[in-house]
Amino acid sequence: MNHLIAPSVLSADFANLQTDIEMINRSDADWFHIDIMDGVFVPNISFGFPVLKAIFKHAVKPLDVHLMIVDPDRYLEQFKQAGAANISVHYEVCPHLHRTIQAIKDLGCRAGVAINPHTPVQVLEDIIEDIDLVCMMSVNPGFGGQKFILNTYKKVKALRMMASGRNENLLIEIDGGVNMNNAAALLRAGANVLVAGNSVFEANDPIKAISGLKNISHLTENA
Ligand code: DX5
Ligand code: ZN
Repeated sequence: MNHLIAPSVLSADFANLQTDIEMINRSDADWFHIDIMDGVFVPNISFGFPVLKAIFKHAVKPLDVHLMIVDPDRYLEQFKQAGAANISVHYEVCPHLHRTIQAIKDLGCRAGVAINPHTPVQVLEDIIEDIDLVCMMSVNPGFGGQKFILNTYKKVKALRMMASGRNENLLIEIDGGVNMNNAAALLRAGANVLVAGNSVFEANDPIKAISGLKNISHLTENA
């Protein structure tokens, strides 16, 4: 499949959110990546349901919701109501991950598991057939604009290998520090969804930055 691009709304201008949403609507982006932070699981607080609903009202592409919150089970239904198409929960906060994944699927959403940079992909061994997406953190979650962690390449390869023959449609999403310098190599390693915050919103021309990531040829070494 062609890879997908999910600009991270966390890096948008919150005083002009509608403008940025419309920019993403017009662009080559496939999804809106939405970061929900609770100040407990991660050392930052982002935004909640009122903002999410406002985004949903204007967005014409699916909302890819990344929950960086403890006890996400309490809020899954509300996230669905607020417009989530995909819901990813963190492995590190879900003692009953299988149950949580089933609950997300029962809501009719794509079910994702996010893993921190230090969490080995091997912990997904017994859930890999049940999930639609892995959100692989390539920075420590909590903030946009951080530096990409190189160890991610190795993890993507290992995860793609693990999924081979067991979940061929698995979406492997890379979240954090993605830009034109690492995108092609990530796709070659087996990723097929790229989240991009700063590299899109700090660009002079965000539409162009998105199409650059979307149209990258991952077969070319330095593309
Ligand atoms: C970090 C978030 C990311 C972040 C990515 O906790 O999960 O989605 O917004 O932003 P960049 O691309 O700037 O690292
Ligand atoms: Zn994210």
